[in-house]
Amino acid sequence: MRKSPFKRVLAAPVLGVGLGIDIYDQHPDFRKLIAQHRAGFDFLEVYSRGDWENTDVPFSEIPDDVPRTYHHEGLDPVAPALCPDGPIAGCVKNQTLLGPPWTVEELAVRHIDGHYTDFFFPAILNRECVHATVANLDALNTVLHAPLLPENAPYEFVVGDMHLGDFLTEVAHGADCGLVLDLGHWWSYQLCVGKGETPDHGIERLDLSRVIEVHLAGARVEPFAGGGIYRDLHGAGPIPEASLYLLRTLLPGLPNLKAITIEVENATEGAAVAQARQAREVVQRVRPDWR
Ligand SMILES: [Fe+2]
Repeated sequence: MRKSPFKRVLAAPVLGVGLGIDIYDQHPDFRKLIAQHRAGFDFLEVYSRGDWENTDVPFSEIPDDVPRTYHHEGLDPVAPALCPDGPIAGCVKNQTLLGPPWTVEELAVRHIDGHYTDFFFPAILNRECVHATVANLDALNTVLHAPLLPENAPYEFVVGDMHLGDFLTEVAHGADCGLVLDLGHWWSYQLCVGKGETPDHGIERLDLSRVIEVHLAGARVEPFAGGGIYRDLHGAGPIPEASLYLLRTLLPGLPNLKAITIEVENATEGAAVAQARQAREVVQRVRPDWR
């Protein structure tokens, strides 16, 4: 019998601090990052905007000695039913080309009736959605070549009666998988529920042993109705202090952490490695024995 997705990902190596790049971005150009800034990151998290039809050439430009993870898009794991066969086959194709130890996908819906939406519809936080998500992840993990790590998506509003920490824990336990904890996205949820001033509020509800990878990204908060809405800027803005606070606070208590990814789409190459340096400095200060 195939090992559980969680056990399979636990067997993967610790990758360190890496950069999340979009292979179609001009800035940063992953080729330049590899050629000119190789010491600035330990691995790349490769994103192709969900595309699999044009990835052969750009993926082949990533040398074998650059460790990589793969960030897919299009599986819509929190949808009421499993996604069509196309995105699954596309994910398998990209996994075959890249050979990542795991694959990341947001706990969101990006397609409605076959049409792409430019908005992340994040998971509805209720038991029905937990059950649908677990069923989808179970089905996906039987066919994908590397285990899927679901990632908490950004929230601009919250629907449902569960706390995000409970939702993520129940999904991870139900599908027996690991998780990507995006620290900015976690904070986006806090902003929605009036806890923006205490970014780690309720973190004890999350089974931190399931967190395999952490995401950090530049962002801004737009004022809204007396509070704020979190907007990912990725490499085009500074990493918010709330995200860095969460990194400092949580890092010592993540026993199975294998990767910290700075999502740097739209950064210059110099800004991308500067943000990786920022994360490495936090690691050096609060968990110097990691790796
Ligand atoms: Fe992320």
